[in-house]
Amino acid sequence: MGWVRRSPVTKRERLRPGLAEIMLTIALSKGKMLDLTLDVFRRAGYALGSLSTESRRLVFPCPEIGMTFLIVRPTDVPTYVEYGAADVGIVGKDVLMEQDSDVYEPLDLQFGACRIAVAALKGQASRDRLSSKIRVATKYPKITERYFNQRGVQVEIIKLYGSIELAPLVGLADRIVDLVETGNTLKAHDLVEVECIAQSTARLVVNRASLKLKHAVVTELIKKLRAVSNTPAGSRASVPRKALRGVRRTVRRTRI
Ligand code: PRP
Repeated sequence: MGWVRRSPVTKRERLRPGLAEIMLTIALSKGKMLDLTLDVFRRAGYALGSLSTESRRLVFPCPEIGMTFLIVRPTDVPTYVEYGAADVGIVGKDVLMEQDSDVYEPLDLQFGACRIAVAALKGQASRDRLSSKIRVATKYPKITERYFNQRGVQVEIIKLYGSIELAPLVGLADRIVDLVETGNTLKAHDLVEVECIAQSTARLVVNRASLKLKHAVVTELIKKLRAVSNTPAGSRASVPRKALRGVRRTVRRTRI
């Protein structure tokens, strides 16, 4: 077989980003937040085609906007992003606080507002009950441990995966640490909020390598989502300068 001479690569072609650098894979949290997330993307001008909350599909390629969406459990979003299976993710701050994942969090999307709170059965919320070791049921064991440790309160943590409000009713726990949005679930189970640990809203998170290698498309996404998410200009919504150190060098090396 003869040697085939390739046409010379022009400087312009060398600098043009490859397809892999302009396509974004985005992990979305399924459940309560999904509709709100899709609404934000649509308001930001992204045509999402067949992507809907009704479908059982987990992967939605949208080549016309250069994106592929993955529908995953909220608690898995940071993992997909940290390991680079997704470039970007949308997930609640509560999940990020619990997991301490190694991802960038450049944008507070402002929707899905709720709080992580300590609650107890009505009549059992008095602070003096905290003098002895108490049992706390939660799906946030790390947040719970940190919070009570800082207050010098000894706790036994009972890790549950849902329906946390049931635990005090059946004697499984003295307190719960859970998300409160409207407060209706607490009320329906005779529980009262004792303390608020933290506020939570939906966040955009970005894989560290993607932030550098796909800088242009990631920055454009942040800009468009920021424009529809009421984040005041000059807030943490911009990509931290430090995070971009070496971007040019890395991108140039990759493209040659
Ligand atoms: C969340 C949270 C509370 C409820 C709070 O549960 O864990 O149970 O929502 O909302 P509210 O203050 O508006 O009543 P979710 O519906 O996610 O289900 P889960 O109990 O299975 O976690």
